[in-house]
Amino acid sequence: MPFTSNQTFKADPQLFCKTEGVYYWNHRDEKILDGCSGLFCTPAGHGRKEIANAVFQQLQTMDYSPHFMRANPTSFELAEKIANMLPEGINRVFFCSSGSESVDTAIKIAYAYHHANGQPQRQRLVSRERAYHGVNLGGTSLSGMVKNREIFGQGIPGVVHMRHTWLTENQFTIGEGEQGAELADDLLRAVQLHGVETIAACFVEPIAGSTGVLVPPKGYLQRLREICDQYGILLVFDEVITGFGRTGKAFAADSFGVIPDIITMAKALTNGAQPMGAIAVKQSIYDTIVNAGQPGVPEFFHGYTYSCHPASCAASLATLAIYEQEGLFEQAAVLAPLFQEAIFSLSRLPIIKDIRGYGLLAGFDVESDSIPGSRGNDLQLKLFEAGLHIKTTGDAGIVAPAFISTPSHIEQMTDILHKVLSQY
Ligand SMILES: Cc1ncc(COP(=O)(O)O)c(C=O)c1O
Repeated sequence: MPFTSNQTFKADPQLFCKTEGVYYWNHRDEKILDGCSGLFCTPAGHGRKEIANAVFQQLQTMDYSPHFMRANPTSFELAEKIANMLPEGINRVFFCSSGSESVDTAIKIAYAYHHANGQPQRQRLVSRERAYHGVNLGGTSLSGMVKNREIFGQGIPGVVHMRHTWLTENQFTIGEGEQGAELADDLLRAVQLHGVETIAACFVEPIAGSTGVLVPPKGYLQRLREICDQYGILLVFDEVITGFGRTGKAFAADSFGVIPDIITMAKALTNGAQPMGAIAVKQSIYDTIVNAGQPGVPEFFHGYTYSCHPASCAASLATLAIYEQEGLFEQAAVLAPLFQEAIFSLSRLPIIKDIRGYGLLAGFDVESDSIPGSRGNDLQLKLFEAGLHIKTTGDAGIVAPAFISTPSHIEQMTDILHKVLSQY
């Protein structure tokens, strides 16, 4: 099973069998509040009939179409819709089926861009400790989580890791911490150590989500942008979690006022109803790659059987329409202060070592016991029994409610967290 202790699961299976709104029902027909939008996927809530109907209709009209040398019109319609939501200048979209695929595709786009631009030696990639960029080989190499890397070989060559941005000085800060912008100078050190002409791209999650919600220090992303501009390095924001409203704006790039060159996205792109990922790039990247091509020959030798799957495109179009019609990103922004205040009320509990948060995303650390990660695992089991689903990574809990949540859902979530965390 993916990221699961098979032995623990088999001893006491935890099954989700039904969903509606912000709730799951388990195999005992008990109601469980979804405190993590599934896995950050379902901001519009579960069981959205508009999406189900759009997928059903699409499958009846055309179930599948190949996307090598052919296309289906909905993919262009969707690409245009996404381009209109993206920060200015990022307007070319390539589709895949997951966040991991979006990251590995972004790596290849970075290689292809520099190759087409007459700098094929730019092959190093810079990422960060405590990053999560999915599980494909490129993303695993970029990631900064030891368990995800240690037994999977050397990874792709030439990946350099900057330090992560968790600092004791910023503990228990809502939003961006005051300290730590200078950590971005690790990119400068990589340039000085390896030579600027060798670095293709710098990959960061604007907010590192899966390792416990590490919000960037004030000025950190701006500094990365400056260094990338100075040395011709592509800046890639992995917005697989933060994309589509999680920070209160369409993308974290908007919230932090920093425009990268490439954005990866997935999850909320279809409200989780169909597997889909996407990579968006600046026009200049697209032009450079396409203009370097030979007539009649693909300019980018990359793609997936399920790129632009018609059912995924239909799900995404229906999802984006819901976000717009219901003003869900604005709703997320309105709910965010109440949510942050509720989560930060946990700081009174002795077991809580730190809390961080931005928008409708928050992480908290519990004090480890003798085996790191075992308390986090115990916590998520106890929360599930108490009727709340959240994600844990190691000894960090991660909370990401749906944007349709009401203050009473937030209260219910916080009550369960207080009750369970008080037991330690
Ligand atoms: C920032 C980031 N990138 C990539 C991924 C991988 O996405 P997927 O699980 O859809 O492959 C994730 C998944 O959580 C993620 O958080």
